[in-house]
Amino acid sequence: MESYELEAVERVTARPRREYTTFAVDSLTPVIGAEVSGIDLSQELSDEQLRDLKAAFLDHHVLVFREQILTQEQHKRFAGHFGELRPVNPPPPEGDPYILEISTTPESANVAGNGWHADGTADAEPSLGSMLYITRIPEPGSGGDTLFANMHLAYEMLSPALRGFLDGLTAVHDGLVAFQGYTPPPGYVAPKSEHPLVVRHPETDRRLLYVNRAYTARIPQLSPDESRALLDMLFNVVPSRPMLTCRVRWSPNTLVFWDNRCVQHHATYDYYPFTRYGQRVAINGGPLKG
Ligand code: SIN
Repeated sequence: MESYELEAVERVTARPRREYTTFAVDSLTPVIGAEVSGIDLSQELSDEQLRDLKAAFLDHHVLVFREQILTQEQHKRFAGHFGELRPVNPPPPEGDPYILEISTTPESANVAGNGWHADGTADAEPSLGSMLYITRIPEPGSGGDTLFANMHLAYEMLSPALRGFLDGLTAVHDGLVAFQGYTPPPGYVAPKSEHPLVVRHPETDRRLLYVNRAYTARIPQLSPDESRALLDMLFNVVPSRPMLTCRVRWSPNTLVFWDNRCVQHHATYDYYPFTRYGQRVAINGGPLKG
């Protein structure tokens, strides 16, 4: 790694860790992700627990809660502590409009989210976060892990010269990018929005790289060739730097809560022809500023 990359990692790992009084936290890697134990999400949470959870979410970006037995209402109630719930787009043909089923069958040729992305970045007010509750994992007892990447560090590991060039640019995110080569599902209203390419996190004010291959279409300040080349280079930042990432190996009844503003994630389809099932609830965010 270059010296400025090492320094960026050191700055992130040297950040002071807060103490949480109502549960235990074990980091997944020094830069992203933590397992939280000693809390039952099916119960009403106290103000102290919620204060600690909000702090841990901002500190670790991805929180993993194991051995949780949750109804859909309890799942939604927990999500509702962090913001307004976001209806699924397109609306599910039946069932709860806020619950997205993540279901892989023996016939699945692909799975949702099998590529680096954040949820809802084409919306004018992108999602704050998502909570995925996996209840069935592939039968051999492994596979189907989800990878997460810290987009603050992705920005900070870029060379100072490139960071200077990116600050002030914007990018257009288009819901149709994810469907290239496919017909969008009936009822899908493709959102399209322009966001700063380098965003400041609305709660911590830390800068982060805000482009992803699933939704980002172009950089309007550049020519089409320049935009394509720069975006392809930026899309490659996460896959080429494992240092940015953590991996969650699911066990049945695990809920993972991630921050869509500063985290990208990647579902791993390495378990064909086995099955996996879960339900995801998303939380509304606000407009993003540079
Ligand atoms: C997603 O939200 O992209 C799905 C993640 C997963 O299935 O692991």
